[in-house]
Amino acid sequence: MSKLGITSFASAPAKIILFGEHFVVYNNPAILVAIDKRIQVNARLIPDYGIHIHSDLQEPFHYTSIKSRSNRLDEIRNKPLYPIYDAILRSIPDSFETGIDIRIKSEIPVGIGLGSSAASCVSTIAAVENLFKVPERRAICLKAMASETIVHKGSSGADCFASTYGGIIHYIKNQGFSRINVHKIPHLVLLNSGLKHSTRSMVSRVEEFKMQNESKFRELCKRASVICQKGMAAIQSGNIEEVGSLMNENHVLLQTLGASHEKVDELVDLCNRYGALGCKLTGAGGGGSVVALMMEKNFSKLESEAIELQYEVLPVTLDSRGLEIH
Ligand code: PMV
Repeated sequence: MSKLGITSFASAPAKIILFGEHFVVYNNPAILVAIDKRIQVNARLIPDYGIHIHSDLQEPFHYTSIKSRSNRLDEIRNKPLYPIYDAILRSIPDSFETGIDIRIKSEIPVGIGLGSSAASCVSTIAAVENLFKVPERRAICLKAMASETIVHKGSSGADCFASTYGGIIHYIKNQGFSRINVHKIPHLVLLNSGLKHSTRSMVSRVEEFKMQNESKFRELCKRASVICQKGMAAIQSGNIEEVGSLMNENHVLLQTLGASHEKVDELVDLCNRYGALGCKLTGAGGGGSVVALMMEKNFSKLESEAIELQYEVLPVTLDSRGLEIH
């Protein structure tokens, strides 16, 4: 193949969910903020048959029999990088007969609710497609969503949209996304509880809650939708006190669903003691991280205390770039 040796790069951001995680799986709205932590993927065509994925996040993944793609599926399906492999298969032409080498470099910690899996899928698809054609954002996003369903079947796809388009988005699974245009976001801080979660098992836990508490779940969904609606208005008008108090309300709903964790609640209390305007878990929960909205003047005291207690603290800012292909 004439393109052998050609390299392509793409990068995509992590995200936090400001409002609506879990509820978004059931077609309720969510608001997501792309943040300044990125995954970079380098894709290269190589002469030998096979797909080779090297990542600084996980064990390497090698599949050397592209011609009989389905033969070893059971063997490889449970590997952490399998969704990336799936994403590559969605991006190479049917006539593809050589090999591909993928290098993933990440600033996004895994399993703490920052969407590392979505950002990896989005940037891998973009980097691979760029070797063969001019990639198109929406198609990349939809393919990444399909690969994400390997991580959990009912995936809302919200993370893929935030990672592809960047900025702040309002998202509904069966309707798509719209941008919330603000140039500045208040000071957002992430605190990592140190407990990794599995999105799949947290989504199953919420499904279980829903099955056992149908009417309660409907009521919580309504409340979550109102929070999101008010949250959007508060972001647009720059009313950060209101954004903070809605974050607190959202956290209580997530606690009711069983999506929080003792350690996460401790972190939320810590942030509130240090003057957070609002604080909640972000992502699937059951561990992972919390996001706090802070005035700048209160941040350094919280940071010292959290570090003293051995929590990782990550101040984050808005990423307006989204997916970039080089
Ligand atoms: O923790 P993360 O980054 O995998 O986010 C999961 C968000 C959920 O709403 C719980 C699931 C989804 O598909 O939107």
